[in-house]
Amino acid sequence: MAESLSIPKTTNRSEIYQTLVPQIESLLMGEPDSIANQANIVAALREAFQFFWVGFYRVVGSELVLGPFQGPIACTRIAFTRGVCGHCYTTGKTVIVPNVDEFPGHIACNSASKSEIVVPVRNEKGEIIAILDVDSDKLDDFSAVDQEWLEKIVAFL
Ligand code: SME
Repeated sequence: MAESLSIPKTTNRSEIYQTLVPQIESLLMGEPDSIANQANIVAALREAFQFFWVGFYRVVGSELVLGPFQGPIACTRIAFTRGVCGHCYTTGKTVIVPNVDEFPGHIACNSASKSEIVVPVRNEKGEIIAILDVDSDKLDDFSAVDQEWLEKIVAFL
């Protein structure tokens, strides 16, 4: 396993994902432990993009429970019916929120978070087993580019 990531010196997010995603794929290859793999995914995304907060919430019983993350401390449990994360879980679709203050029911774990993207993680049966939540301290920081690549990344799990 490589000891460090190679990340191009550019602000072009597509270019960074193109280089980063194959490295994440090889980092996860052959490792069956999902918590270890989630931990390396959040570390790689935070290192590559310096996002404000990157983390997983796992489906445990009837709620979402905090998993591996990088960034400030966060809410531990989220009901399926609450917040952007709950909306992602109940709709089964990626949610992009350009301005969290305009999303009804958004859960503010940290007031510095301004926009976010939440991506469902499915098992081989198609059931949602977790969600990936990425928060930015900038408004409107996520686009279809992030959606496309983050969906590819969680498919490695
Ligand atoms: N904002 C999320 C809660 C999780 S934190 O941002 C880390 C939500 O509304 O579901």
